[in-house]
Amino acid sequence: MRSKFGNLMVALACVFATSASVWAEGPPPWAYGFTTPSGTAAPAPAPAAAPAAPDSTPRHVPGSDKVFVRQQIANQYGPADWFPEDHGPLPEIVAHGRQGAMIAACSLCHYPNGKGRPENAGVAGLPISYFIQTMHDFRDGLRKSADPRKANTNRMISFAKNMTEDEIKAAMRRIASEARLVAEPSGAVALAGALKLGLSPKETVAVLSGGNVELKLYASILAG
Ligand code: HEC
Repeated sequence: MRSKFGNLMVALACVFATSASVWAEGPPPWAYGFTTPSGTAAPAPAPAAAPAAPDSTPRHVPGSDKVFVRQQIANQYGPADWFPEDHGPLPEIVAHGRQGAMIAACSLCHYPNGKGRPENAGVAGLPISYFIQTMHDFRDGLRKSADPRKANTNRMISFAKNMTEDEIKAAMRRIASEARLVAEPSGAVALAGALKLGLSPKETVAVLSGGNVELKLYASILAG
C-alpha cells in the first residue's frame, strides 16, 4: 500500500507535469485577457461602429457628493476625482499626465490614492527605491508582460519611457506622502533618518526594506 506521502508526491508530480506542459505553450491567455495564445495575432477588432453619442448619464459613487459623466471619468488627461478632500494637491503628472508626450494621468489607472483600478497595479505604499527602479525597468525594456499583446502594460512602458526623472520623483513623492503608513521593522531605521532630517511624522511614510534604503534618495524625494 502506498503511503500518504507517496500519494502526495505522485499528485504533486502530476501538477508540475501539467503546469510545465501548459507553460511550454506560453502563458495562459485568459490570465492576460485574451482568448487566443500568446504569439498569435490579437483577434481582429470588430468593425468600427458609428461613434456613440456622448453618454450624459450622471454617475455617482457611494460616499462622494460629486457627479460625473462617463467621458469625465475616462478623461486620460484629467480623470474625475471622486474624493478630492481625501488628499492634498496632486502633482501635475498624477492629475493630468503630459498630453504632449502622450503620458496619461497616473490617477486614471492608479487613482489619486494609488490603490489602482482592478485591472492595473496598486502603487500605494511601494518602497521608494522599488518604485524608481521599476519605472527605470519599464523604460529600459527590463519589465514587460509575458503576453506582449497586453495593452495596458505596453502603455505603462511608453509612459515610463517618456517621463522625466523629475516627473517620476513627483509621482513617487505623492505616493509617499499619501499612504501614511509605516511597515516593516527595518523601515524604522529609515524613518529615524527621515525624522532627523526634520520631516514631519504625520507626512512621512516609510515602507522601506533594510537592504535597499537609500537615505539620500529618500530625503531628496520628500524634500523636492
Ligand atoms: C493606462 C493605465 C495606466 C496609467 C495611466 C499609468 N499606469 Fe502605471 N501601471 C499600469 C499597469 C497595467 C501596470 C502593471 C504592469 C504589469 O506589470 O503588467 C502598472 C504598473 C505601475 C507600477 C509598478 C507597480 C508594481 O507593483 O510593480 C508603477 C510604479 C506605476 N505603474 C507608476 C505609474 C505612474 C507614475 C504613472 C503616471 C505617469 C502611471 N503608472 C500611469 C497602468 C497604468
